[in-house]
Amino acid sequence: MSNGKKWQIAVIPGDGIGHEVMAATLTVLDVLSAEKAVDLTCNELPWPSTAWHQKYGEMMPADGLQQLRQYDAILLGALGDPGPKSDPNRYVVTDGISLAPLLEIRKGFDLWACERPARLLEGARQYLADPRAKGVDMLVIRENSEGEYVNQGGRLHCGTPFEIATQVEVFSRHGTERLIRHAFHRAQQRLEERSLGLRSTRAFPDDRGGQSQAQVCLVTKRNALPHWGELYSEVFAEVALEFPDIGLHHELVDAACMKFVQCPWQFDVVVASNLQGDILTDLAAVLSGGMGVASSCNINPDDRTMPAMFEPTHGSAPDIAGEDKADPRAMILTAANMLDWMGKEDSNAAAAANNLRHAVEQDLAIAHELERTTTETGRAIARILQSS
Ligand code: IPM
Ligand code: MN
Repeated sequence: MSNGKKWQIAVIPGDGIGHEVMAATLTVLDVLSAEKAVDLTCNELPWPSTAWHQKYGEMMPADGLQQLRQYDAILLGALGDPGPKSDPNRYVVTDGISLAPLLEIRKGFDLWACERPARLLEGARQYLADPRAKGVDMLVIRENSEGEYVNQGGRLHCGTPFEIATQVEVFSRHGTERLIRHAFHRAQQRLEERSLGLRSTRAFPDDRGGQSQAQVCLVTKRNALPHWGELYSEVFAEVALEFPDIGLHHELVDAACMKFVQCPWQFDVVVASNLQGDILTDLAAVLSGGMGVASSCNINPDDRTMPAMFEPTHGSAPDIAGEDKADPRAMILTAANMLDWMGKEDSNAAAAANNLRHAVEQDLAIAHELERTTTETGRAIARILQSS
């Protein structure tokens, strides 16, 4: 029986495969609700979506953010081209329009941390041939509220040969400090999990010399973008003093891309700016088995009254939309991240998160070679949960 909190969830399938992966995820969450493992009330919303835009000329109602503010959490499938790509007459809007709600929700609720774990689960596709790539287990934390995504700037002398475009990047000390401190907290947590045998141990190089059981790697491009790169580096050094057990490392973003491929097992917690974190997490997704299993979350770690938003790293995949082909595991693992987040206040949700993650892992381990539909994968995971 659930003795925890009653959670109100806004469920937004969105566009494209968002509908299919969300349906599979709800099948799984229904099992957890039916078994009273956790008390979830899921309210499905038809917006934001391209379909809503087709009807009403906007991606969501003008008071959309206020409506979403009432919920504890938001589960979002995907936004973007709804597909199918084979239909040249489908209704599509530009990326700037269809994806704007994503950025509005992140900024509107100050969901400043985007956490994207990349652990290669058994049965997931291992893209790198090196056997050590089996041990990939990193957490990339991306700044989610400022940086390159502030949408400041404009265009001058439009359409003339003298046209100028500016795109300003904004980095605040406050935003940097909370992000970096959060990364250290996460590394500390992972260190504790290792000491309890809940996470595999490894020795990570420490830039100060020696090795450490946990590490935070700061990514910048401070050799070419020194203003914010130096701010990040200074704050990193200051905050690190509070965490003497955690190893320190810095990579330039281009070198980080190279090393994610060359030796990804050498990374633990990685902290990066909004855009650099965005790019690194597509790469990290492949290291963990591909977009079909890459989960994500957008949270405000110091204000839990803000509805956190849980959306997988993938997009609307218009090339396969409507074919019941998309792997729903990324969305299901993202729902497990949501339960983890709830678990801070509700021990039932924490247990449900672990059960759900194990069910996905068990299913992956047995089913990776099978050609299955989205619906079948959702049902298979639901069955594992029912029998556990
Ligand atoms: C992501 C996506 C978005 C981003 C796009 C769709 C705006 O790529 O969530 O990673 O860049 O944040
Ligand atoms: Mn992205």
